[in-house]
Amino acid sequence: MRIGLITGGGDAPGLNGIIESCSKTLIKAGHTVVGICDGFEGVFNENYKELTLKEIEGAHAQAGTILGTSNKSGTKGREKEFLEKYKKMNIEGIIACGGDGTFAGLKAVSSEIKLLGVPKTIDNDLPGTDLTFGFDTACTVVAEAATSLKATAHAHRRALFVETMGRTAGWIALGGGVASYADAILIPERPFDKSEFIKFIIERKKQQRGFICIISEGAFSIGENPQVAFTVPGSPQAERFGGISNTISHWVERETGWESRHVVLGHLQRSRHPTTTDCLLTAAMGVEVAQLALSGNWGMGVVYRDGHVKHAPISEFMGPARLVPKDHKWIELAKSLGAFI
Ligand code: F6P
Repeated sequence: MRIGLITGGGDAPGLNGIIESCSKTLIKAGHTVVGICDGFEGVFNENYKELTLKEIEGAHAQAGTILGTSNKSGTKGREKEFLEKYKKMNIEGIIACGGDGTFAGLKAVSSEIKLLGVPKTIDNDLPGTDLTFGFDTACTVVAEAATSLKATAHAHRRALFVETMGRTAGWIALGGGVASYADAILIPERPFDKSEFIKFIIERKKQQRGFICIISEGAFSIGENPQVAFTVPGSPQAERFGGISNTISHWVERETGWESRHVVLGHLQRSRHPTTTDCLLTAAMGVEVAQLALSGNWGMGVVYRDGHVKHAPISEFMGPARLVPKDHKWIELAKSLGAFI
């Protein structure tokens, strides 16, 4: 078989692990893997190449994706062109590694093509899977940064507001915040009460030299909305969030007199080499998705559920974002550690 492999949407640490483990399994079984470059743009621009074992060897340890990706465009309005170009590739089907934008784009053409899916996003917010690869690495970046920043916050008697990615879901801020024992964690699922937050900070100012608050880019206070930084026209999710840590830092300094600074971790959360946990997850998911192709089980995706890599119909991770539940165990943990959340 000739099987297409595509990586779409924002990059996530572990994409290269999927490429290496999945391609190795297929190539060693005597098949050809056609790597589609730059996400959907590779289909439209007919930019793809056969992958060799030499090219993929060792890729799993690197961030990014050796195929390239894009989160700027979808298939909307171009479904006919997509299918024409797809046919020209002369492949049995496509293994797609992507997030909500990629799967929404593929949904429109899914009745005409054979498809297998691997859910991907550092945001950890895809439905149908308990975990997406890249999330552990993103949390590691946040926790390491917060732990380092604690030293400078304490040295200067300052409050530091650290902004994470995550869009409408607070998983990264919550995971990184709990792992670094942050003083406060603000996530979109829990709009915060401004006066309660200020009271909490004033109390902490009496007790400690420095203060660390982890803020998800989509977080907002009761009655307000997430802060939109800019829009990317044509992108499946055009609004990019950002700027909340800057706003909160100035507001807290005004309200409490505690000198404040903000740090936006931004794309550092996507660009670190994958953690061992993410390498293990992508090795298992890549092999599993290759096996689905070998057994002709098209229409399925690989998921992580109850501590195991399993498969499920691809439609199960095409739904709305999976947000942090009210009673999630990490929220209880943060509360037990005394954090404002
Ligand atoms: O969905 C992944 C993600 O990193 C979000 O957390 C973030 O809001 C967005 O992508 C950033 O997109 P871009 O790379 O276009 O700035």
